[in-house]
Amino acid sequence: MRVVTTGEVARDPAHAEAVLVVKELTVEYGEGVGAVVAVKDVNMTIGRGEKRGVVGESGSGKTSLARAIPGLLGRSGRVVGGSIVVASTDLRALSERASAQVRRTAVSVVFQDPLNALDPVRSIYSQVAEAIRLRRPGGRHLRRPRMRSAIGALLEECEIADVARVMKQYPHELSGGMRQRVAIGMAIAGDATLIIADEPTTALDVVTQSEILHMLDRVVSQRSAALLFITHNLAVVSEFCDTVSVMYGGRIVEEGSCRDVVRQPVHPYSRGLIGAIPTIAGGRRELVGIPGDPPSLSDLERGCRFEPRCYLGHGVQVCCAQVPGLDDVPAMGSSRSVRCHLIDRSSGGGLGPAAA
Ligand SMILES: Nc1ncnc2c1ncn2[C@@H]1O[C@H](COP(=O)(O)OP(=O)(O)OP(=O)(O)O)[C@@H](O)[C@H]1O
Ligand code: SF4
Ligand SMILES: [Mg+2]
Repeated sequence: MRVVTTGEVARDPAHAEAVLVVKELTVEYGEGVGAVVAVKDVNMTIGRGEKRGVVGESGSGKTSLARAIPGLLGRSGRVVGGSIVVASTDLRALSERASAQVRRTAVSVVFQDPLNALDPVRSIYSQVAEAIRLRRPGGRHLRRPRMRSAIGALLEECEIADVARVMKQYPHELSGGMRQRVAIGMAIAGDATLIIADEPTTALDVVTQSEILHMLDRVVSQRSAALLFITHNLAVVSEFCDTVSVMYGGRIVEEGSCRDVVRQPVHPYSRGLIGAIPTIAGGRRELVGIPGDPPSLSDLERGCRFEPRCYLGHGVQVCCAQVPGLDDVPAMGSSRSVRCHLIDRSSGGGLGPAAA
């Protein structure tokens, strides 16, 4: 496995505008035979201004991917292979301290429950001030009047009205949507070029969800940031994101332009996931179930992890015996990568045993 170093990324014109370059990333929990391989050999590049959606069933490794990048896997999880380059800095090549510093300033993270990001016994003013001190260059030296106006500007950027009142309040005095706006404000208190949002609106009502997505959309474009957006909601991905990665069993199984993947999924898993949705544009629908269970990520990977549930490859020798690679497939005239042995690459991504 070849690790891309900071120098290589900086010299490579293909990555000139890349904010995030993940190569062969593998994440495990636990050790030895029972170790869970939650993310396996994931490659992902997200450019400035790009909004990348990540979808997949529960347990497919989305959160593990999202947490590995800013170094938030906790005690039981660890990155066991690959590289993570953010804003041309190879985080795994740095010391732990230096890498934590880059992650703090260059990466913003928003999770589903804003209460995890907020301290119940401190005012919004005090918490946002701390985020500015921690994340913004020179933030530690801001005295009260300038700090107050910096907090006000940040809360206004997150479309919070009456910022003077909100600054004095405590988390329990705010609605769920307002708490998430404050949490987003704290996350973007610095000049982060990469924003990672893991199900940031799942717990909110439809109207608030839509408002916050619009706000996030504006923040990403105004800052020319890159967004990694994790969600179960395919309708949100199709409306909100530019590109999408479909994850299954810790691996990316399909990737491409959001519009195209949702309109014409190629991988059997994506087809199951998306094909069962009658009209994507028509409404908000969650990922639907596919018959069978997700794979155990502590089992040895002998072939395609989707084989036991695959309508096409179930019992097919190559699917049982070889792990398929993620290959480019010309489909619908746009760039598409698919991990499947039975894709007919000559006819633009059609599937069939004849292609095996
Ligand atoms: N702290 C942990 N300790 C042990 N195993 C973990 C831990 N966190 C996640 N896992 C395992 O890693 C795998 C991937 O989990 P992850 O949370 O990344 O999936 P996900 O796609 O985010 O799921 P969901 O949609 O439910 O949030 C699962 O098998 C899960 O059980
Ligand atoms: S490799 Fe085989 S089992 Fe896996 S998705 Fe493709 S057809 Fe199905
Ligand atoms: Mg998750």
